[in-house]
Amino acid sequence: MIKAPRGTRDILPPEQEWWQYVRNTATEVSSLYAYAPIDTPLIEEARLFQRSVGEGTDVVEKEMYTFTDRGGNELTLKPEGTAPVCRAYLEHGLRELPQPVRLYYFTPAYRYERPQSGRQREHHQFGCEAIGEADYTLDAEVISLACTFFDRLGISRVDLVINSIGCPECRPGYTSALKEYYEPHRKSLCPDCKRRLERNPLRLLDCKNSACQGFAANAPRSLDYLCAQCRTHFNGLTDILTATDTDFVIDHRLVRGLDYYTRTVFEVHPEGSTNALGGGGRYDNLIQSLGGPPTPGVGFACGIERTIEVLQTRGIRVPALPAPRVFLAYVDRSVEKMATRLAQTLRQEGIGVIFSTSRRSLKSQLRQANARNASYCLILGEEEIERGVVVMRDLISSRQQEIALEGLLEELKRRVA
Ligand code: HAM
Repeated sequence: MIKAPRGTRDILPPEQEWWQYVRNTATEVSSLYAYAPIDTPLIEEARLFQRSVGEGTDVVEKEMYTFTDRGGNELTLKPEGTAPVCRAYLEHGLRELPQPVRLYYFTPAYRYERPQSGRQREHHQFGCEAIGEADYTLDAEVISLACTFFDRLGISRVDLVINSIGCPECRPGYTSALKEYYEPHRKSLCPDCKRRLERNPLRLLDCKNSACQGFAANAPRSLDYLCAQCRTHFNGLTDILTATDTDFVIDHRLVRGLDYYTRTVFEVHPEGSTNALGGGGRYDNLIQSLGGPPTPGVGFACGIERTIEVLQTRGIRVPALPAPRVFLAYVDRSVEKMATRLAQTLRQEGIGVIFSTSRRSLKSQLRQANARNASYCLILGEEEIERGVVVMRDLISSRQQEIALEGLLEELKRRVA
């Protein structure tokens, strides 16, 4: 039997109400903060991610789905949403618009990871990006949007973790200090960290290996190496968070797994958990690395699967998807055209109808109507049509009455619309 590829999964109808709830909440919150929707293609040139996410990251080094198409182009299934949005910003001259440009999106993302709880090869993100402005108030805005989103979903107990990893001015001083600190421990590091020591020292700090974590706890802290501008930026942000009663903790080991970040980085975790629901930060050099003019930006993305998992484990109820409450039954083939026409008319008028396709007994069709959670069953027969009426059965009280066909629409609108 052919199955969905490892690390991917189908989202069947019973689960869709959770997805709808998360998407609706994200759309509402984005519009409250004046973010506009954007969609970018599923495939991008591989070099978009090599230049932005970074050659030395796990995502680019080990996890990208890259292939050559029939025209010889090297393409990648997008592993994240920020670089494509920045590419679109550049390609469509969005810098001509009033800045910052605020955008949000829903996107699938593909990473060839070892599937485990909360980690899939295909996952989905809700993300937002504010491009064209370096002010720390915008970092605070994006953090506020993220927190409001989780709060509105009903996920109230979350931990907000922040850090600043500096800029190209001050980062080299910090990475030298990290290398100097780690060098004497080289032999005790895991194989990945031995490589990170050469290629990407910041990532030494978020290694999951317990021996490496011990070293990270006492490692030099980026906040102690910030230049004056980065320090002012970080202080400005933490002052706003404090003034707006936003609880946060500073974690000097928070560096994020993508290379484009500068200054602010942050993550939101379910209380007490290390598995991030979402994360983001500032990326002031990303657009330049794509060949554009210096253009700062800041953003955030959350994993929709992980968010739904928290909603479900916390027992948070979500609204059911709208479903038709009217079932149309008829037994006799001779009325099928009339029944089809009636169903069409009702739908055109905005009344949803579940059309019975079974020509079995009325009893069996009523069972079907109940199984579909309908509230009313309309029963159409030859004799009723001749008299210009339809039988309407209330499936909750089991009472039924005859209604003139011409008054049916009004009656249904009153009851179910
Ligand atoms: P990220 O932290 O790599 O950031 O991914 C964002 C979120 O997507 C994670 O916090 C997690 O909830 C979810 N996620 C990531 N990988 C997986 C996976 N394999 N399976 C399930 N869920 C996953 C970004 O992608 C950045 N683009 C965020 C950003 C936006 N930074 C600035 N703007």
